[in-house]
Amino acid sequence: MKIKLPPADAQDAFSGFPVVLGTVHHDGKDNVITLALCHAFSFSPPLLGVGIAPERFSLGLFKGSKDFAINIPDASILRAVKICGAKSGRDVDKFEAAGLTKEKAEAVTAPLIEECPVNMECVKTHEIETGDHVWFIGKIVAARRREDYDPKKMLLYWGEYRTIGEQVKGK
Ligand SMILES: Cc1cc2nc3c(=O)[nH]c(=O)nc-3n(C[C@H](O)[C@H](O)[C@H](O)COP(=O)(O)O)c2cc1C
Repeated sequence: MKIKLPPADAQDAFSGFPVVLGTVHHDGKDNVITLALCHAFSFSPPLLGVGIAPERFSLGLFKGSKDFAINIPDASILRAVKICGAKSGRDVDKFEAAGLTKEKAEAVTAPLIEECPVNMECVKTHEIETGDHVWFIGKIVAARRREDYDPKKMLLYWGEYRTIGEQVKGK
C-alpha cells in the first residue's frame, strides 16, 4: 500500500542532496553560501547549476557577477557549513565568521575556499527563474581537487547531514 502525499511534501522522499559552498564576487564584495540545490546540467560541456532563493543576499551577487565557484566541503568543516547556511553576508563577513581561507581562482573572480578539498570555477551560462529559486548554471572552466580526495566523504543534506551509504551491486 502507498500513502498519498501532498504535492508540496513529495520531495521529502529524497534522502539528501550534495552540500556545496557557493562563492561569488561582485561589486567589491565576496560572499559564501551553503547550498544543497546543486546539480549537473550537462557533461559536455560541463555545466553545473545551483538554486538560490530570492531572499538570500547571495542572489544579487550571483545575478551581478559573470562567474561563481562551487567548493565541496567535508565533515571536518561542518561548523563552517552551518555558519554559511545560517548567517547572511548582508550582516557579516562569513569567511571570517566561519574561519574559511580565501584562495585566488585561476579563471574567475569568485574566491575559492582553501579548506574545501574540491574547487570548481564556473562561468555563468544560464539564469533560470523557477518557482521559489533562481538557478544559476555555469560552465566549469577550471577545477582542482586534493590528491587524496574521497567523494564518499562529501556531505549530503535533506533535513539532516549525512555521507553516502553502502554501494549497491547487482544485475
Ligand atoms: C545544508 C543547507 C543547505 C542549504 N541550501 C540552500 C539552497 O540550495 N539554496 C538556498 O537559497 N539556500 C540554501 N540554504 C540556506 C542559505 O545557505 C542561508 O539562508 C544563508 O544564510 C544565506 O546567506 P546569504 O544571505 O549570505 O546569501 C541552505 C542552508 C543549509 C544549512
